[in-house]
Amino acid sequence: MIGRVRGKAAGVGLAALLALACGDLLTSAPDPGDTLDGPLDGLTAPEMSAFLRGDEEFARRFAPSTGLGPIFNDVACAACHSADGRGRPGNALARIGSPADGFLAGLGGPQIQDKAIQGAIPEEIPPGVPVSLRLPPPVFGVGLIEAIPEATILALADPDDADGDGISGRANLVTPPGWVPATEPGSGPGPRVGRFGRKAQTTSLLQQTVEAYLQDMGITSDFLPDENRNPLAGPAADAADLVLDPEVPASTVFAVVNYIRLLAPPAPGPMTPARQRGATVFSDIGCAKCHVPVLQTGPNPVRALSNRPVPMYSDLLLHDMGEALADDRPDGGASGREWRTPPLWGLRLMRQFLNGEAFLLHDGRARTIEEAILLHGGEARRSRDLFAGLVAADRAALLDFVGSR
Ligand code: HEC
Ligand code: HEC
Repeated sequence: MIGRVRGKAAGVGLAALLALACGDLLTSAPDPGDTLDGPLDGLTAPEMSAFLRGDEEFARRFAPSTGLGPIFNDVACAACHSADGRGRPGNALARIGSPADGFLAGLGGPQIQDKAIQGAIPEEIPPGVPVSLRLPPPVFGVGLIEAIPEATILALADPDDADGDGISGRANLVTPPGWVPATEPGSGPGPRVGRFGRKAQTTSLLQQTVEAYLQDMGITSDFLPDENRNPLAGPAADAADLVLDPEVPASTVFAVVNYIRLLAPPAPGPMTPARQRGATVFSDIGCAKCHVPVLQTGPNPVRALSNRPVPMYSDLLLHDMGEALADDRPDGGASGREWRTPPLWGLRLMRQFLNGEAFLLHDGRARTIEEAILLHGGEARRSRDLFAGLVAADRAALLDFVGSR
């Protein structure tokens, strides 16, 4: 959303810019280039106009008259992915069930929709089932993530810890739904390498987008034309949404997929001697074994995505992070203790775009980078302990480095 504004910024007052930029969460006007919603460099003119069209759809706020509900979590993609960055606890999604129990569909799974339009009944978390609270990750850079060859990710996996370093990342191999068009990266028949979502449970941006429309906003599409309903509400509640299905055509879905695909990650901050030291420590104490600094995309029909470095600090693999972080909710091939290594790019701007606050880890429980590191367990236990044992100067350098990405 700010992307469109950016070009015009010179002529727009600060107050107007802040208001336009999803404003209430932005603490100060971003410096040039410090946005989370700018396009990749080097887009062609048609790619750029597709980007702008998708930007509008990503920002579009649905209402009951345009198809919202019957049950939903929020009214726009941009409402949860604030300024295209990460979300906060108010936008967390509660997920229940597992592949083995059909994601407790009869109780409202896989995801609890806690809001409803008039006449419908919101879902409630059923008592006694494990609930996985998940904060929205950023959406910038996801096109680069999608463009990394599966072989690159699989080459980083070490499921049996053959090298004996205590770290055994593995890919979440999942079978994509049949409605994902064969022309989309990550489409079936599968199994394919999952890369999106907190447990890397989704293989394509198209699937992520279609399911977000249906599950998060109650918007049906050509891909999933049947409304998501509260199974415990009666037929009267089912009839509350009067808009004809599908509520958005495939072209709208493709516009949004294209938009997020072409979003650039923000550049890291300047390298200083202290940060150089921090980068060395990051590697020395094993952070870089999971938070792999750079992967590379393969050949891609979009030139801006083709053979590019992806400095996201992730291997996109699943790691057992120990009991304290476990959610006991399997997803695809991921267990109740495993999480995808989250990319660390953009941490530099996280507070500026979230009203000065930080919400880290899958459920946002950590409020500083240091706290997030100290909560690492399982495969990351050794690395966490080495961090805890660092002398003050090295610890500060590491935190400064990570916070400057
Ligand atoms: C109610 C809040 C909410 C809304 C609305 C929402 N999302 Fe999300 N989004 C999330 C959460 C939470 C996750 C992580 C889900 C998980 O891990 O299970 C997520 C994950 C994603 C991801 C994966 C990013 C990554 O790196 O793993 C993408 C892409 C995405 N959303 C795009 C969209 C699009 C496009 C829309 C609108 C069509 C949308 N989202 C609407 C909350 C939301
Ligand atoms: C075994 C793999 C592994 C190692 C080693 C590791 N991490 Fe992580 N890291 C993860 C995973 C997986 C998560 C997500 C856990 C969750 O969401 O509950 C994570 C989360 C984080 C986060 C929070 C990111 C966010 O957006 O919420 C930061 C910051 C971080 N790690 C930094 C580090 C640093 C610094 C080190 C070295 C001291 C390190 N990690 C070592 C796997 C690892």
